[in-house]
Amino acid sequence: HTISWDPIAAEKGEYRHFMQKEIHEQVRSLTDTLAGRVNFDEGKVRLPHLNLTPEKALRIKQVILTACGTASYAAQVGEVLIERIARIPAKTVIASELRYNDPIIDENTVVLAISQSGETADTLAAMDECRKRGATLWSIVNAIGSQAMRVADGYISMQAGPEIGVASTKAFTAPLVDLYILAVLLADLRGVITPEQRRKLVSDLRLVPDLVGRCLDREAGVIQVAREMKYIHNMLYLGRGINMPIAFEGALKLKEISYIHAEGYAAGEMKHGPIALVDRDMPVLAIAPRDPWYEKMISQIEQARARGGGVIVVATDGDERVAALADHVFWIPETPWMLSPVVTVIPLQLFAYHIASLKGLDVDQPRNLAKSVTVE
Ligand code: G6P
Repeated sequence: HTISWDPIAAEKGEYRHFMQKEIHEQVRSLTDTLAGRVNFDEGKVRLPHLNLTPEKALRIKQVILTACGTASYAAQVGEVLIERIARIPAKTVIASELRYNDPIIDENTVVLAISQSGETADTLAAMDECRKRGATLWSIVNAIGSQAMRVADGYISMQAGPEIGVASTKAFTAPLVDLYILAVLLADLRGVITPEQRRKLVSDLRLVPDLVGRCLDREAGVIQVAREMKYIHNMLYLGRGINMPIAFEGALKLKEISYIHAEGYAAGEMKHGPIALVDRDMPVLAIAPRDPWYEKMISQIEQARARGGGVIVVATDGDERVAALADHVFWIPETPWMLSPVVTVIPLQLFAYHIASLKGLDVDQPRNLAKSVTVE
């Protein structure tokens, strides 16, 4: 007599899918991301494997971030952080474009690749192309010993742990925090922030795991909305500023695992076309935390509502203006705006997950997709 034991099911523990387990692991992965890098007593950060000296930091003229898929949306958040905190020109170019772009690069350019697997063919080819042109190569990678880690001049090792679900979740939020730490480090080495500013930026990091945990505690509310909305065919995700890439990522999550058509849009671009799509069958999900773009988002929400679209809003606890406008609210706790993407993305991960799961879809292995794309 043998006892049947499914090792895969055992690894999933109390969760139905790896994706759900990985969403819930983010409190832990973000705690690990801070460990050993952030000294809260001194208000300082360190990234030892980047091999960055003050002299090198001062020579950087531009940072080009490159990646594919979900990692490219992390890159877009990083671009905002590097420009705002370190005041270095930064731009994101998706790797499949960068590799054929004849990019303008010199020895004072840093090319920063972000990759969960460290083996994505386009990302590696873009790094290779930039290496030939003399750039300094950095990477933020989850898989230890992968190619994107080995070929880089310096790297940041994501502390996400193994990610099994094809749709990336914890390997999205870990690099957001890595990029924030990097921006603070660059700003400090280049002398563009005061010690007080640095201490404030660093102390805000301490809040992150708990803020994410509080979003996860509200999963039941997200499930309720997912139940109501699981039959939709389209959805428009809107965000601005540092949360614009979160609109893209939220829409990608929904497409990937639930096969529902979703588009992420810069909210300010609505009036230049996409608003024509909004009617009763085109719900809008607006990301409107209390960040510098908040007022603009409110007027966007009003416009969507006036055209009959159902509105879900990601908003900060106690926001009565949003409560009065929205059909549903995904509440998040008050968060410093430069760290808000780590928090606003949590309900969007849960929403996509529960829609797909309620539909009985194969969440961990969606059709046509691979965890790691090692061919062009
Ligand atoms: C595949 C995965 C995506 C991922 C992308 C980049 O397409 O399905 O979830 O975002 O590759 O992967 P990487 O390993 O480079 O982060």
